[in-house]
Amino acid sequence: MQYGYFDDDAREYVITRPDTPYPWINYLGSEEFFGLFSNTSGGYCFYRDARMLRLTRYRYNNVPADAGGRYFYLRDNSGGNADVWTPSWMPMKSKLDRYECRHGMGYSRISSSRNGLAFSQVSFVPLGDNCEIHKITLTNESGAEKNVDMFSFVEFCLWNANDDMTNFQRNFSIGEVEIEILSADSRHPTGAARIYHKTEYRERRNHYAVWAVNAPVSGFDTDRQSFLGLYNGFDSPQAVFKGEASNSVASGWAPVGSHHIKVKLAPNESKTFVFVFGYCENPQDQKWEKQVSGGNHGVINKTPANKLLDKYNTAEAADKALAELNAYWKNLLGKFTVDASASSRPDDIKMARMAGVWNQYQCMVTFNMSRSASYFESGIGRGMGFRDSNQDLLGFVHLVPQRARSRILDIAATQFPDGSAYHQYQPLTKRGNNEVGTGFNDDPLWLICGVAAYIKETGDYSILDEKVPFDNDEKLADTLFIHLKRSFDFIVTHKGPHGLPLIGRADWNDCLNLNCFSATPGESFQTTANFESGVAESVLIAAIFAFTGPDYIEICKRTNRADEASYAQKEISKMIDAINQHGWDGDWFVRAYDAYGKKIGSKECDDGKIFIESNGFAVMAGIGVDDGRAVKALDSVKEHLDTKYGIVLLQPAYKDYHLELGEVSSYPPGYKENAGIFCHNNPWVTIGETVLGRGTRAFETYAKICPAYREDDSDLRRMEPYVYAQMVAGKDAPRHGEAKNSWLTGTAAWTFVSISQYILGVRPVFDGLLIDPCVPKDMKGFTVTRHFRGADYHITVDNSAGAEKGVKSVTVDGKPHEGVIPAFNDGKVHNVLVKM
Ligand code: BGC
Ligand code: NOJ
Repeated sequence: MQYGYFDDDAREYVITRPDTPYPWINYLGSEEFFGLFSNTSGGYCFYRDARMLRLTRYRYNNVPADAGGRYFYLRDNSGGNADVWTPSWMPMKSKLDRYECRHGMGYSRISSSRNGLAFSQVSFVPLGDNCEIHKITLTNESGAEKNVDMFSFVEFCLWNANDDMTNFQRNFSIGEVEIEILSADSRHPTGAARIYHKTEYRERRNHYAVWAVNAPVSGFDTDRQSFLGLYNGFDSPQAVFKGEASNSVASGWAPVGSHHIKVKLAPNESKTFVFVFGYCENPQDQKWEKQVSGGNHGVINKTPANKLLDKYNTAEAADKALAELNAYWKNLLGKFTVDASASSRPDDIKMARMAGVWNQYQCMVTFNMSRSASYFESGIGRGMGFRDSNQDLLGFVHLVPQRARSRILDIAATQFPDGSAYHQYQPLTKRGNNEVGTGFNDDPLWLICGVAAYIKETGDYSILDEKVPFDNDEKLADTLFIHLKRSFDFIVTHKGPHGLPLIGRADWNDCLNLNCFSATPGESFQTTANFESGVAESVLIAAIFAFTGPDYIEICKRTNRADEASYAQKEISKMIDAINQHGWDGDWFVRAYDAYGKKIGSKECDDGKIFIESNGFAVMAGIGVDDGRAVKALDSVKEHLDTKYGIVLLQPAYKDYHLELGEVSSYPPGYKENAGIFCHNNPWVTIGETVLGRGTRAFETYAKICPAYREDDSDLRRMEPYVYAQMVAGKDAPRHGEAKNSWLTGTAAWTFVSISQYILGVRPVFDGLLIDPCVPKDMKGFTVTRHFRGADYHITVDNSAGAEKGVKSVTVDGKPHEGVIPAFNDGKVHNVLVKM
């Protein structure tokens, strides 16, 4: 069953009933201020760092689901009995006469109605400012006058999200607020009410949050208990049921922000209110309103808040900001568009809406969030991942190359001088995270991969000359090129007995913990490396080396480093020899060697005989293409790992916990890395299939995990039909087909690479754009527009011949052309016609 539909023209997903199989969320914000926003107005917001600067509270592991949000309560006093309801359905689960939630590019709209009172909310983070805007419109659709009480509600988080939900002995005594009621004047034409959250401002913080509305209020609450009642949930706030706020001023306990607004509406009349939730900082020496020595240190300096709130104090200002946001996204998504109307396959519209819109949108979100804040990542545990953020670049770099560039420099600064890297870093400090540390031996290679993608997109080699610290230490700075060399050399100098790369704590598969023999419950599988074998090796790292190494060679050649290029070539050849000798199992590629030198992912094993990752990546790297092994490997993947919903990570699933394997065997069969459909690596097989020229199979592997293709199966899949999930339960799991961990997954970037660069085949390479589609035979054609290095390419592919791969002829601007299409960089549109 479906819970909504795609509105392709508006670039929105329209949810038509509120009780989706899981909260279906959207992300507001694309720069520094972010909000998570569900289809029933749940979620929270933060400034830059979901752990350190959390602005509103959210309850994880919640009952009912999705507890905490920006809520609006309506109390319709018409007809004698007061009717209290929440127009976003939650938290009261109000019966609604009409409901719709439209998640769009950086904004969401909820509209609903009950008993002739219509509500509409549009929520977004404007470009360039640190706030959420919630524009609310109430309309009287009944024939009689209505008197309505509207109450807003947010619950402030005391900044550090981890401390906020654990350190109650302190936190219950520190909460502080200020309230400001402004009557109408020239700056605030409709009056205003502003609730400031300033906990800890008296000491070391110089920031505060503010929850404001551009209207006079008849009351407010800032103390949670006064608003809700101690034993009430969000679904029965006593102030709303009473119809009166208590003007409470929080002192300790739980500070909240609630405005009470009385709204009188004649028949057909509408009134609009602009609510703003903002984050403001003051310079250290201007923290207080009055700089009286020894005096008035209690009143915060509201200059930045006034600037922000005065800017957005009318509906017109909010509309203008939304229009700017829409224009911003229109421009971004104009960089890569797909039109599949010539394909002759009706379902290709699903591919087009994902590749052209939602997949790229998700890439922006993963670029911004890494794996920090979602409805599955608490925002507390994981910062920016070294491998994750590098891979996220692959799907993002064409959108805003400048931001990709500075991200690369941030990531590289967390590399150690020997080429290894901090596995994670904190977005606020940009410093490596000591708790997780280093030792994930695939990490270094992803930096080469990310930088190569950046250079192929932009042609900007100057990034290689940027001086970048090692270990965040300026004294250890060297050029980015040297960082790449250290990455490359790290692999060369860390090999095991078979000449394959040592795995360290884990490779891409965080759960292959071959040097962690953990028998203690609760111990970290990854950081408790207690069996430093010096033996466990990864065939996957070898394959990544073989795939990304050639890019390193190209970079060397193009920057006059011929000696380094030939050294690199020799090392890559050696690695490929090692894979051929010790990484081939007869029908597929081996996955790894454990701490005793025993194979993992081999027919010799009882469970875990075959893994997806090494097979996908080895074929991507072209290994075994000449002698039939690559075909065999991917045929084996199909035979042993394929399911209706995608390709599982391994088979047979581990039935028991294996001390020598670690977390992979900790999961019940069919979930996560233990034979779940771990979507991130499915596109590696897709790309591998295009290397083999098997377009029909490539597309099949693409479509199986593509959420839009499972829209009508939402009861089973449960997650949003417009975003990829990290995992879909595999065939060994009781809930085969159910997805989890939507949004923050490397699946976003890799599926975008697989569809845009390898299936549709529009691939940035060092010299320009390579057009090399690999499609199903019955896909008769399509059009892609691609903005690339300062010019626009309008690419029409004609596959009336019914081929799967192979370009017969190309014309550029009407003239026959061979090979890579150059970067014209002339600000013009170029028409490219491709015949397969
Ligand atoms: C998950 C992995 C993840 C890792 C991060 C594990 O529990 O299964 O998918 O990469 O945690 O530390
Ligand atoms: C999720 C992690 O974020 C990523 O770094 C890892 O590669 C995969 N899980 C696989 O374990």
